[in-house]
Amino acid sequence: MHEIPTNALDVQHALKAHDESRQGEAYAPFALDPNQYRKHFYIESYGCQMNFSDSEIVASILNQHGFGATRNLEEADLVLLNTCSIREKAEQTVRKRLSEFRKVKEKKPGMLVGVLGCMAERLKSKLLEEEKLVDMVVGPDAYRTLPGLVEEAETGQKAVNVMLSRDETYADISPVRLDSNGVTAFVSIMRGCNNMCSFCVVPFTRGRERSRDDVSIVAECQDLYNRGFREVTLLGQNVDSYYFVHEDGRIVNFAGLLEKVALISPLLRVRFSTSHPKDITDEVLHTMARYENICRYIHLPVQSGSTRVLQLMNRTYTREWYMARVDRIREIMPDCGISSDIIAGFCTETEEDHQDTLSIMEHSRYDMSYMFFYSERPGTLAARRYADDVPDAVKKRRLQEIVELQNRLSRESNEQDLGKTFKVLIEGNSKRSDQDWMGRNSQNKVVVFPKGNLPLQKGDYVWVKVHDCTQATLLGEVVPS
Ligand code: 5AD
Ligand code: SF4
Repeated sequence: MHEIPTNALDVQHALKAHDESRQGEAYAPFALDPNQYRKHFYIESYGCQMNFSDSEIVASILNQHGFGATRNLEEADLVLLNTCSIREKAEQTVRKRLSEFRKVKEKKPGMLVGVLGCMAERLKSKLLEEEKLVDMVVGPDAYRTLPGLVEEAETGQKAVNVMLSRDETYADISPVRLDSNGVTAFVSIMRGCNNMCSFCVVPFTRGRERSRDDVSIVAECQDLYNRGFREVTLLGQNVDSYYFVHEDGRIVNFAGLLEKVALISPLLRVRFSTSHPKDITDEVLHTMARYENICRYIHLPVQSGSTRVLQLMNRTYTREWYMARVDRIREIMPDCGISSDIIAGFCTETEEDHQDTLSIMEHSRYDMSYMFFYSERPGTLAARRYADDVPDAVKKRRLQEIVELQNRLSRESNEQDLGKTFKVLIEGNSKRSDQDWMGRNSQNKVVVFPKGNLPLQKGDYVWVKVHDCTQATLLGEVVPS
């Protein structure tokens, strides 16, 4: 699952991490009357899209128990941080934020502070000892018990629930769309991960993989469509292993699910993330090719271009396998966008391994990548088995080279689009000017174009001809369809 980068070199901020700005963002549901609730909660989310999506489930559970969301920390009775453990830096950011909350709590002693998500799961009650002001620690599978835990904490006890589950998917909970643009939404289709990549904490923090009932997924997407949303992103750590077995024995795999969602309406775009190179099937690629509204974009993390390192990472594919998957994507959908996650300086990585990473990037011609240097995580297979032996300076230099190459690939990819016309879904005003619209094409590239006098609104599809670009954005003009 792609995580929104909070780490690596500052240079990576030049990347097209469109969601990066959301890190730590406090949000409240749109169109909710704050006066209808007894108490208020404030929530900030860190990490991946799955975490942001979980916060919407948490908001729904709290709403049902009389808590309204607020964007104002001072007004909150309950302050929640939905945390990420993927790299050490992510945890440091959360700890810093917790120390800032201390000052607010000094002025407002009744305020409760809760840590949710992966860091809660990783550190469990240790977090209560380490961070004295935390009142609640709640893991990703325990959000239904949050109202009870709040009551417990209100009596002055420390409240902890970090039980992982084999079947919790929150299927019946209708997420409250926090700070939504009303056009695009994330829909969680599965939880957990069985892959055991050796660098990764996720299997420990999010538990075993389980798929959500397809009927509830399609119903949620249909409901979003009825409310005016025009794009859903199906979320899972490894969507290609989606597999739901009905009581009558009927099986729905990921290709089947994609098709069901695509059939809701040709006006509803479907995206998904994240794909694992070992699992993405031709059936999925053909399903994508069959439906115009399944977006031509695949996030296919490579992690490393060296077969030897991939083996140590327990990725279970080789360099050649990965390149063959990329070739197959391009064969079936020549216009498909591809992006990646890349780790620099994993244990034992040599200069030659690093060159293999650079050359696989060239081969794959990624439109964009999330790039990180390796950060050892306690308890992972790599931490137990291998020494974190690439010096920091080397990791950073290699990462820098990866970032520079990606910058070139992104620019070249955008230059290829000059003169082309794309169907763009309008998401809202451009960040720079309310005289311009911002939307995305099927390949997930951001497209910015002047509003002019056209009677357009967000949620509309328009055809835009690209006449200019930056490394991160295509610039164009509306043309008749
Ligand atoms: N160090 C650096 N990057 C990591 N990722 C996961 N674990 C680590 C780690 N220990 C990266 C991977 C993954 C993305 C979500 O974060 O590239 O795909
Ligand atoms: Fe998402 Fe948790 Fe992984 Fe962070 S550690 S990227 S929050 S699953």
